[in-house]
Amino acid sequence: MSAGGDRARSAEAGDRADRAARLREQLRHHARRYYELDDPEIGDDEYDALYRELQALEDADPGLVTPDSPTQVVGGGPQAVSRLEKVAHLQPMLSLANARSEAELRDWVQRMRNHLAREGIEDPAFSFVCEPKIDGLAMSLRYVDGVLERGVTRGDGTIGEDVTHNLRTITAIPQRIEDAPALLEVRGEVYMSLPDFQALNERRAEAGESTFMNPRNAAAGTVRQLDAALAAQRPLSFWAYQVGVAQGLTFARHSQALEWLRAHGFPVNDQIAVVEGEEQVVARCLDWQARRGSLEFEIDGVVVKVDDVELQRRLGVVGRDPRWAIAWKFPPTTKVTKLLRIVWNVGKFGDLHPFAELEPVPVGGVTVKLATLHNEEDLVRKDLREGDDVIVLRAGDVIPQVVSPAPHVAQRSGRGPVPRPPSRCPSCDTPTVKAPGAVFTRCPNRKGCPGQQWQLIKHFVSRGAMDIDGLGELQVGRFLDAGLIATAADLYDLDGERITRLEGFGEVSATRLVQAIERSKQAPFGRVLFALGIEEVGFVTGRNLAQRFRTIDTLLAAQPQEIAQTPGIGENTATVIYEQLHDDDMLDLIAALRERGVTMAQEGPPPGEGPLADRTFVLTGTLPDLTREQATERITAAGGRVTSSVSGKTDYVVAGEAAGTKLAKAERLGVSVLDEAGLLELLEHGPAAEPAGS
Ligand code: IVH
Repeated sequence: MSAGGDRARSAEAGDRADRAARLREQLRHHARRYYELDDPEIGDDEYDALYRELQALEDADPGLVTPDSPTQVVGGGPQAVSRLEKVAHLQPMLSLANARSEAELRDWVQRMRNHLAREGIEDPAFSFVCEPKIDGLAMSLRYVDGVLERGVTRGDGTIGEDVTHNLRTITAIPQRIEDAPALLEVRGEVYMSLPDFQALNERRAEAGESTFMNPRNAAAGTVRQLDAALAAQRPLSFWAYQVGVAQGLTFARHSQALEWLRAHGFPVNDQIAVVEGEEQVVARCLDWQARRGSLEFEIDGVVVKVDDVELQRRLGVVGRDPRWAIAWKFPPTTKVTKLLRIVWNVGKFGDLHPFAELEPVPVGGVTVKLATLHNEEDLVRKDLREGDDVIVLRAGDVIPQVVSPAPHVAQRSGRGPVPRPPSRCPSCDTPTVKAPGAVFTRCPNRKGCPGQQWQLIKHFVSRGAMDIDGLGELQVGRFLDAGLIATAADLYDLDGERITRLEGFGEVSATRLVQAIERSKQAPFGRVLFALGIEEVGFVTGRNLAQRFRTIDTLLAAQPQEIAQTPGIGENTATVIYEQLHDDDMLDLIAALRERGVTMAQEGPPPGEGPLADRTFVLTGTLPDLTREQATERITAAGGRVTSSVSGKTDYVVAGEAAGTKLAKAERLGVSVLDEAGLLELLEHGPAAEPAGS
């Protein structure tokens, strides 16, 4: 073997490694566009081609496989899937024609009359069901013998995506129903309520993450996540509006089908009404339109359906739209108002966000006074100035947006100056900075800026982080103002007596709060890492870092390259995390929290140790008592590993109610199958004998 040949071969190997790294990066990027942002840049075929190329490289040289490769388990959680599987619908999921005015609605009724007349049905007595047209994501739920087997998105109407793992986190969706036909398909809309949407966006903004434009995008982005642990953190709801395939179950009227759904535990909107004739339909649609702004969820119209199922059948389908239903669309909700002032708010990481103070104006049933302006570039792109008349839009969006100056503004002279981010922080007056290429101008005074500390401490105490009950943004603000706290660590020095001196706190509420703060010291290490407010460290990354590094000291000793070995963390992110962790203020905060007894280590044995060391588990179905999260925590605490797909390397499959293909595969491969009792036994006594299959 010549040295030249060696060099050529090792150069080739280097090329392959580079190519694999590049493919991993591309796949991760496109997976994010597709699943998280719901905004793909390439088609499925192109994605699959990249994926297959990476798989081929890794198959040829297993040394190239990294634990975080998109070909390996994604997300790391038990309910995670590596891709959303495409599934054909039992019956196509139709769309709806629109009516944008009373005249168009009457035309629709006339078209139906004409069609039925040709069928020999003269003067049908129409009853109509008027349902809110919820702005979410259409979903088909398949129940087999009363057990939810599969949930599929609408997709193109013929083929959708299997999102069952995420639907199992939605409490509004029954996992099991009584007296069900052998096969039942229920259709409805997965959506996010307005309060949940606002809370989610606030949390994301605080975590320095991008916010969702509207509840629909938030619901879509959530339901198409690969890791159900993420979906579980974002509250979704469900309205059922249609029975699809139902073996041996027939209804004479659609309204009876809705009744049946309601009686079997499905949420059906209680404002849905059956009305006679088109006058009443119009009245009902206008009524929904008027109440639009006061609902807990976004609607963009009213769906009007013919109630009589036999008439529906006679009317049939044109193209993709049933003749027997129509969507009454609300008029677009834009208004012109005056942009009074552009105000800047300081975020958790010191980032300055502009928003617009407007002359109050009613838009789509809601009085709008504030609107988002996203960021500085957005301001420049839209060419907005204080004092301009501007177009404000609420189009299925809760947070109103300033679209542009009103058309007459551009010609006007004497407009205000081009708005610039403030040169001093609006909260602490420190001179602001903007790094080259950065989106936001920032206040660099992390520790001393009350605005930033308010955001950081709000995040620290929030659900998913330290979860301190009775401590909301209001209380945090008051403690800061009263000088009782300056950083999150100071919370642990609060005593009941000092709190009761503040107005609104009695002895009981103060004692409870002190207890809740004390309890939070036991929060798992992953949540503490999330609570610290490190850029790029969300809930899931916090948990993954805790699992990998086990203690704060090991994490602090880790170089960026080591941090990058954590699932879900790329090299750039690892560098950001490293720098943030080693920031002086962060080190002070960590030291102060540690001194006060806050958890700084992951419980249980390190990986590779413990009674279940090196044993691999797959969870499937619903366990009677343990949630998947709890089962995973117990297994990992005993040194085991939980993955999402069954293979020859799997030691145990833990199967609960409604276990599906994973159980079948386990049986085929001869992998040991446990129920919950068996798992608990194993956790307590360790594996008595080698499991089958190893
Ligand atoms: S019925 C006839 N009912 O609107 C079957 N759809 O444009 C068609 N939608 O994809 C669906 N609320 O996402 C129906 N009460 C409701 C609805 C509704 C919202 C959505 C659904 C569908 C789209 C059709």
